[in-house]
Amino acid sequence: SIPEDLKLAVLEKVKPTEAERKILTVVQEELAAEVTAAAEKLCVSDIFVKMVGSAARGTWLSGTHDIDVFISFPEETHRRDLEISGMAIAREVAKHAEHAEDRHAEHPYLNIVFKGFDVDLVPCFRVASACQLKSAVDRTPFHNEFVKTHIKGREDDVLLMKQFMRGGGVYGSELRTQGFSGYLTELLIIHYGSFENAVKAACIWRPGQKIDIMQHSEMGHTEPLVIVDPTDPKRNVAAALSLDRFCMFIDHCREFLANPELKFFFSALVLPLEDKELLEKLDSRKSSQLAVVFKTPDVVEDVLYPQLYKMEQAAAALLNEYDFSVIKTGVWSGKPETVIMLELISGTLPNVKKRIGPPVWVREHSEKFKAKYEEAENVFGGYIENGKYVFEIQRKYPTAKGLLEEQLVNCSLGKQVHQSVSEGFEVIEDAEVCRLKDPDFRVFLRKWL
Ligand code: CTP
Ligand code: MN
Repeated sequence: SIPEDLKLAVLEKVKPTEAERKILTVVQEELAAEVTAAAEKLCVSDIFVKMVGSAARGTWLSGTHDIDVFISFPEETHRRDLEISGMAIAREVAKHAEHAEDRHAEHPYLNIVFKGFDVDLVPCFRVASACQLKSAVDRTPFHNEFVKTHIKGREDDVLLMKQFMRGGGVYGSELRTQGFSGYLTELLIIHYGSFENAVKAACIWRPGQKIDIMQHSEMGHTEPLVIVDPTDPKRNVAAALSLDRFCMFIDHCREFLANPELKFFFSALVLPLEDKELLEKLDSRKSSQLAVVFKTPDVVEDVLYPQLYKMEQAAAALLNEYDFSVIKTGVWSGKPETVIMLELISGTLPNVKKRIGPPVWVREHSEKFKAKYEEAENVFGGYIENGKYVFEIQRKYPTAKGLLEEQLVNCSLGKQVHQSVSEGFEVIEDAEVCRLKDPDFRVFLRKWL
């Protein structure tokens, strides 16, 4: 089992101190007062301020300065009124903040920096239950109540689990990570009772694993992990978890139990790959590296990353279609540039390409095929093999770089990525990758090669 002193060593680093709790409470109270005052000033009555998220539940990791403030409107409020009044109140509060930024999820909210805290001001509807939601965020206050009434005494287990997931690179439900959300982590602890029990249980998870704390789901789900929302029987809290993050977590749990050490909670710092090491690695791998480089579109990560993953898939499909063998693909995005990495068995193919036609005895089709290629230019020759006409023709794209340069813009790409790629991109190969100097990209490269 997991040594007690190991858990204590982790908690020592991630459990908020009394002083930190004090500050957080004070800032939350100040924010609540600000929202109330703003509503009064703007003559909006009938709103409640609700503190939600890990800060309100005592399950935040020390040093993460994130507060979620919900501005709750009566259910019968019109969506437009909620957006206008809600955002007006939020903007009023933002006047006393260091920084403010409009963010659009399914509906608008304001992200501000207030006394050093990263605060989301989110208008929502005060619906009767989570399954009667009018907007995606309306479940959150119900999550809050459920966790608060079930997590008492197990907050440390939540902290251990969140940090353990961070160490395994699987924490965060943003579309970039497609991992475990805070609420999901809390539900795992509530269901399994402790960090240790949850880790042990996950070692034998398989895709299709279902946890239904309230035993109230009537739905079939297809996601790898199904954690039925205790506050909404139709909702899978783990819907955003990808198969690979799911399996990375299983692997992380097994490795950890075999050898429980601190390193599973705090991943080692990865150093940027230097030019010399990069060249050595390329030389020993003897594969082909292609980097598609373009300007990073100015959109939020939840919009950007799905488009980048889509582009990664589209580029790989294009290369495969033209006979290039893709070993792996990856995405790195920074400012100002984004890079799609593609590793191929080879970036060049022979000029000759084999076209196999119909069997000779299928007279009509095979004669047409033969006639077409006999007349065509750039044909090396033809013969019969295994009863079929075969022609050796000139390959249209003998280099992967040429193919990408010409055809990538015609792939199905997301809106903003397509826009940026249309404005210009560059394909750089192998040692030329040394030109990309961003230290964070070089960290990515160390894991890539
Ligand atoms: N939420 C959700 N699904 C998500 C993200 C958020 O239901 N994919 C809801 C949850 O009720 C969550 C709240 O919004 O508690 C706040 O979100 P967030 O700050 O992302 O998560 P926390 O639970 O506060 O966890 P963390 O400690 O990572 O901040
Ligand atoms: Mn939070």
